[in-house]
Amino acid sequence: ETVEWDPEQAGKGEYDHFMLKEIHEQPTSLAQAIEGRIDTRNDRIALSDFEPGTFDDVESVQFVACGTSYHAALYGSLGLNQAGVRSTALLANEYSVSAPPVDDDTLVIAVTQSGETADTLNALRQATAEGARTLTVTNVVGSTAAREADDALFIRAGPEIGVAATKTFSSQAVMLTLLCQRIAADRQGEPPADLESLLPAVESMPSALDEVLDSSDAAAIARQYDDSQSYFFIGRGLGFPVALEGALKFKEITYEHAEGFASGELKHGPLALVTPDTPVFAIFTGQEDEKTLKNAEEAQTRGAPVVAVCPDEHAAVAVADEHLAIPDTNAKLAGLLANVQLQLVSYHAADLLDRPIDKPRNLAKSVTVE
Ligand code: G6P
Repeated sequence: ETVEWDPEQAGKGEYDHFMLKEIHEQPTSLAQAIEGRIDTRNDRIALSDFEPGTFDDVESVQFVACGTSYHAALYGSLGLNQAGVRSTALLANEYSVSAPPVDDDTLVIAVTQSGETADTLNALRQATAEGARTLTVTNVVGSTAAREADDALFIRAGPEIGVAATKTFSSQAVMLTLLCQRIAADRQGEPPADLESLLPAVESMPSALDEVLDSSDAAAIARQYDDSQSYFFIGRGLGFPVALEGALKFKEITYEHAEGFASGELKHGPLALVTPDTPVFAIFTGQEDEKTLKNAEEAQTRGAPVVAVCPDEHAAVAVADEHLAIPDTNAKLAGLLANVQLQLVSYHAADLLDRPIDKPRNLAKSVTVE
């Protein structure tokens, strides 16, 4: 007697798709990422990957990345600016035509899950040739980026099979958050003021992710809006890269039109597209939420249903048409919990449409051509 055994199917375990499996792996993959890297007892970020004072001389930081990694880079860059260090996130494929000047006080950080994206490697090489110091935040030990950059920080997410990046985004964003605090601490000679509250929140992220995964209403929301015309995602501050990532994930796997905007930008053009057929997912991270709520209400006035992604006790719950709940956490991390709700919405929306979720048309996991 022979048993039919499909290794790919077996690898998915109890899940229908690798994407769903990888979404559910996030509490574990994130715990692996932070393991041994933070030191809550002494209120300082360990990141023992780097010697004390490693970043003392860094004057400014340029992040380079593509796709989902670019959104993580934007997340890191905003965090670094908020911590008082000049930084910018650049699309790696634009770097050769738009890079700001660098010198040996500039740290160029290539954010790349695979470590093999041609556009990102090109930017990294250009930065090296121009005399910048380089570092990569990557998932793959021994990748080209890890070998070529001066330093590497590994996100330890484990292999990701689904073309749409999920668990690697969460780990990138958390590791970049820690790295940025560390760069700011080295530069300024003392840890940033709010580090004390951030570190325990980082440590609780795996359990907060569990809570989101165990109680998510994303499947019902996906069903409710399954015949919409377009899907909009808005956020402010650290919610903005999450809005961009929410929309990218949605278009990658559902093939439906989705766009992410900075909340305050909605009124400067995109509002013309807003109708009762364009649900607006509003991400609240605790950074000027009252303004984002006002922007969401402007869309609601034009007939759009608003889905608030925020904690239960948030003021947006009473205003929004629907609510996706996230545990209350530090403002530097709230967007990442919101992002997991949005990953699930995209997944369920694509599943209802019967899309090939793990291998969307025209896309590759790693793009090694320019
Ligand atoms: C491809 C993938 C995206 C990914 C991007 C960057 O386009 O389809 O999911 O975000 O490459 O990949 P990297 O390995 O550099 O993070």
